[in-house]
Amino acid sequence: MDHPRVAVTSKLPGRAIAWLEESHDVRVHMGEPITTEDELIAFIGSAGAALTLLQNPVTDRVFAGCPQLKVVGNCVVGFDNIDLEAARRRGVWVTNTPDVLTEATADLTWALILAVTRRLGESERFLRSGAFHGWALDMLLGSAIQGRQLGVVGYGRIGRAVARRAQGFGMSVAYSDVEEFTDPEPAAVWMPLEKLVSTSQVLSLHTPMSDENRHLMNEELLRRMPYGSFLINTARGLLVDEAALARVLAEGHLGGAGLDVFEHEPEIHPGLLNRDDVVLLPHIGSATVETRAAMAELAAKNILAVLAGDDPPTPVVRPR
Ligand code: GLV
Repeated sequence: MDHPRVAVTSKLPGRAIAWLEESHDVRVHMGEPITTEDELIAFIGSAGAALTLLQNPVTDRVFAGCPQLKVVGNCVVGFDNIDLEAARRRGVWVTNTPDVLTEATADLTWALILAVTRRLGESERFLRSGAFHGWALDMLLGSAIQGRQLGVVGYGRIGRAVARRAQGFGMSVAYSDVEEFTDPEPAAVWMPLEKLVSTSQVLSLHTPMSDENRHLMNEELLRRMPYGSFLINTARGLLVDEAALARVLAEGHLGGAGLDVFEHEPEIHPGLLNRDDVVLLPHIGSATVETRAAMAELAAKNILAVLAGDDPPTPVVRPR
């Protein structure tokens, strides 16, 4: 039997590595994440499969430098770190990890919605600073969300899981997407993006990152958000013009923002870092023990399927 080497760019939770090792030589990168093409080419080398993370730039140059690659199993649901066109052209499968992280990411989205509308970060800093001297009627008042509209940009798996939770909080849901779905589950009203943005009290982004929607939330659209409304982003940082967001927040136009992802991760725009009306998280949308193990295991299953000559369970690119 052929034993192609599997290059895994990070240590993994769960049983993923053990599964891969049952039938293949596996090499695991330890230490700092691989963030450059050259390091990635050197690490993958002549491997037949690479299990990658979102910091790994899988570009056309990397495909060219790793000609034995049959499959790139990305251990995240997003795939903006991979040149999909190049993969297709060069006959390499690309897979991702959908479904297994939907609920965890939707939970984290709601954690941000509640944290920012009820000023949780600011309240905790207030208490820890010793400023809490007892209950007061007018202390740290937040914004009610009941009866208001949650606007979901991108009504895919995660957007819908976020929408399902809205019912429990008494919010109505509207969405925008490239298409209007007939009978979406859960039920929600479709709106063109501009209308959704200008009518939602909480606007939450759940659309994949692509060249077309880079800075989808540009300054003009940010200014169309209602006065005192909230922007939530647990998708990709590049969907938002961060400098414009910092300006619009500084002008007091928005109620706040809850962000788990950033334009230049791990750097955060200085205009956001010092604001009390912004809740900032270090890209932990899918970060539960259970979910991260499930993601790693699904990435391994995808790789094992391709190396066995089968179709992988969750393909993004199927080679021609
Ligand atoms: C994480 O950001 C993912 O795309 O899964």
